[in-house]
Amino acid sequence: MRSANKTFHIYLLFVSFGFFSCIPGSKFDFTKRNAEISVSVPQIEGAGDKRGRYEISGNEFIISTDHPLASKAGIDAWKAGGNVVDAFVSASFAVSVVRPQSTGLLGGGFAIVHFPGKKIKKAFDFRERSPKKGKAELYLDQDGKPIPGKTLNGPYAAGVPGIIQGLVLIQKKYGKLPLEKVIEPALGFARRGFPVYLDLAKTIEFNWKHMNPEMKSIFGKEDRPLREGENLIQEDLAQVLERIQTNGDLEIRRGVTAEKIVSYYSGFDQFMDANDLDSYQVFESEPIAGTAFGKTLLTMPPPSSGVHMLTIFQTWNELNLKKNLPAGETGKIINLTEAMRVGYRDRADFGGDPRFTNVDVAKFLSVDYAKSEANEIEKKIVSGAWANGSSSLKQESYNTTHISILDKEGNAVSSTQSVNGSLGAKVVVPGTGLILNNTMDDFSVAPGVPNLYKLVGSEANKIAPGKTPLSSMSPSILLDENGKSEIVIGAPGGSQIPTTIINTLIRYKKDGYSLYESASYPRLHHQFQPDILFVEPELKSVFPEANLPFYKVQYIRHWAKVFAVAREGDKLIGVSDPRGEGIPLSF
Ligand code: DON
Repeated sequence: MRSANKTFHIYLLFVSFGFFSCIPGSKFDFTKRNAEISVSVPQIEGAGDKRGRYEISGNEFIISTDHPLASKAGIDAWKAGGNVVDAFVSASFAVSVVRPQSTGLLGGGFAIVHFPGKKIKKAFDFRERSPKKGKAELYLDQDGKPIPGKTLNGPYAAGVPGIIQGLVLIQKKYGKLPLEKVIEPALGFARRGFPVYLDLAKTIEFNWKHMNPEMKSIFGKEDRPLREGENLIQEDLAQVLERIQTNGDLEIRRGVTAEKIVSYYSGFDQFMDANDLDSYQVFESEPIAGTAFGKTLLTMPPPSSGVHMLTIFQTWNELNLKKNLPAGETGKIINLTEAMRVGYRDRADFGGDPRFTNVDVAKFLSVDYAKSEANEIEKKIVSGAWANGSSSLKQESYNTTHISILDKEGNAVSSTQSVNGSLGAKVVVPGTGLILNNTMDDFSVAPGVPNLYKLVGSEANKIAPGKTPLSSMSPSILLDENGKSEIVIGAPGGSQIPTTIINTLIRYKKDGYSLYESASYPRLHHQFQPDILFVEPELKSVFPEANLPFYKVQYIRHWAKVFAVAREGDKLIGVSDPRGEGIPLSF
């Protein structure tokens, strides 16, 4: 890949300013930049010019999120005497207000919390669950075919939400500041509003026709979608946040907000009922761990795809040790692609909620398994026995979000949160300002029927009452030799989440690029089905496609965005993906 000698101008920035020029009344100006240097690293278009905004360094604390106001909420919590968890909870509430297309308080997520000094390593699953009335037949016609759009738009697309319960629990267990305090920034953004930015304006316009009237009244004006630069005020949501300040998660379990959701569903067969909301459980466990670059990589257990991401890393490592496989750039691409195919094949065959189906984590994480998969791949390549599939992916808009946080002691939080598709189910529950998720689409409605991200699943991911859908979200933390957090990383981007983390870490830890260059390096993605190698367009002119006759290659902009923070000696480095609108901040 290093042979892709396109020269880009890359700007080095050592101080924390940037992005506040988009906030009314801000004294910051993000057009300033420092020294300019030239390097030869393949980068996505515009990455050099954007470096000033998307990269930062610091000494004590660093955060990277999907919106400047969310990063600011996080750093303000830190400055107010909070710890990484306070920063995380504050940034999470804030981002759910300022990126409603990506996440929201009726969504769900995963978080890894690490306090090495206290020997605390926890994985929290606060993802949506199927309501008790959830069953596959609801989404199929008489011929057993999926009813178009039913898992994507409208009331039946939503799972029982878990974000409020998850954030309140994590804050209570590990935060230092009062819940009321960490919710304050979000409340301000909802009540006073913030300027609609380009990505949000485009998403509102694109989804306008699917929105229910309540949603149009919030995201529109004079019966048309809000435009870039107009102020988005979410007063009902501000009132929900105020009630959470007082009632904590009881608000979503049996408070006024719960009553409004139940009342909305009285018009839809009580698909989600009072008991679904009240009985929601956050699941708390140990993160799972595998090996990457000789170090321990912590990630989320199933129903996350973290386990398959670890299989990919470990299989890739074994392939790199083989002597009979192609060398050079071609070899690197084959090793990575083949390892990805293994992980996504396992995901399609076995991925699902471990409370309902057996996901053999110990096997998938064992070195023996990685070795045996690498042996099979070697046989296949040496014998030339390749088969090609086809199909394609179209570019999707951005949604879902990730927060990475690290302090100088190695305390860290890595969390991915979502309402699934852009603006979830396109339904605002009347009187709440809250958008229903459309995470029922993450189940496989029928074996082999692809979902929004063209992912297929098996019986293991079939809808069942109370079940959690399989997820690609894989918040991760790489540990150093002393067990402290070294890199905190994650991404939104549906099926591309695990491969985005893998691409970025390989560039950073193996190829030696800076964290920013690694984030903006064009990526490769293979998800087993469709059987296509997806390559970002900047590599097209140099990609050795002719030497890879066994892959179908599609050049497409990837929609995943990486948010990573890392410790380099005494310094903390943070990056947000130049493919998105986020921003890292430091202290
Ligand atoms: O959990 C999942 O796998 C999906 N709901 C994530 C969706 C996502 O990342 C969308 N981003 N483009």
